[in-house]
Amino acid sequence: MNEKGLFITFEGGEAAGKSTLIKKVKEYLVSLEKDVLCTFEPGDTEFGKSIRAAVLDGNEKIPPEAEFFLYLADRAYHVEKMIMPALESGKMVLCDRFTDSSVAYQGEGRRFVSLERIEEMSLVATRGLTPDLTFYLDIDPKIAFKRLTGKKDRLEREDISFHEKVREGYLLLARDNPHRIVVINAEDTIEDVFAVTTKHLDELLKKTNLNKV
Ligand code: TMP
Repeated sequence: MNEKGLFITFEGGEAAGKSTLIKKVKEYLVSLEKDVLCTFEPGDTEFGKSIRAAVLDGNEKIPPEAEFFLYLADRAYHVEKMIMPALESGKMVLCDRFTDSSVAYQGEGRRFVSLERIEEMSLVATRGLTPDLTFYLDIDPKIAFKRLTGKKDRLEREDISFHEKVREGYLLLARDNPHRIVVINAEDTIEDVFAVTTKHLDELLKKTNLNKV
């Protein structure tokens, strides 16, 4: 458990509905008078914006190692400059993607190095920071892809078998971290997804000092 604030992450494949859920969760927590910071990876800092462009824009194939280290550089900066200061000031930080994305996409999706090494290297980038709770929005990529509109980025252009491997990666992570990761069926309605999420958040708040409303 993080000492002062709470660090909550949201994970999932493409178009799983993370942004909509995060918006609703923020409103819920604000209604409980919590101090909330919403953020995302990659690219929620000035430094990270150029990393996001380098890693997601463009058509050229990039080596998986280069891709991975770009995500890690973004994460290291993000943790140091934004996430840690917010946690230290007692905020609840809601983060759209974190280390689990690297394990699922670079580890299981790209398969250039073991999942354990991906996790180890990400822990170096985060100086050991891990989420207190993670919501994984699980959806069949074939269904999710029907929701995608507009120009596709580098990862959205990968074929369906890549995204199926990413999903397997997330499910492995959830199996290995049952106390941290809550798997939510993202094919359910947003109302159902939100209800499951708030149930787990309420349980977490009950266990912490942050529940002083
Ligand atoms: P999003 O902002 O739309 O969620 O897109 C970010 C993309 O970057 C998404 O396809 C997942 C991918 N990604 C990784 O492959 N590894 C990572 O570590 C992170 C944070 C994101």
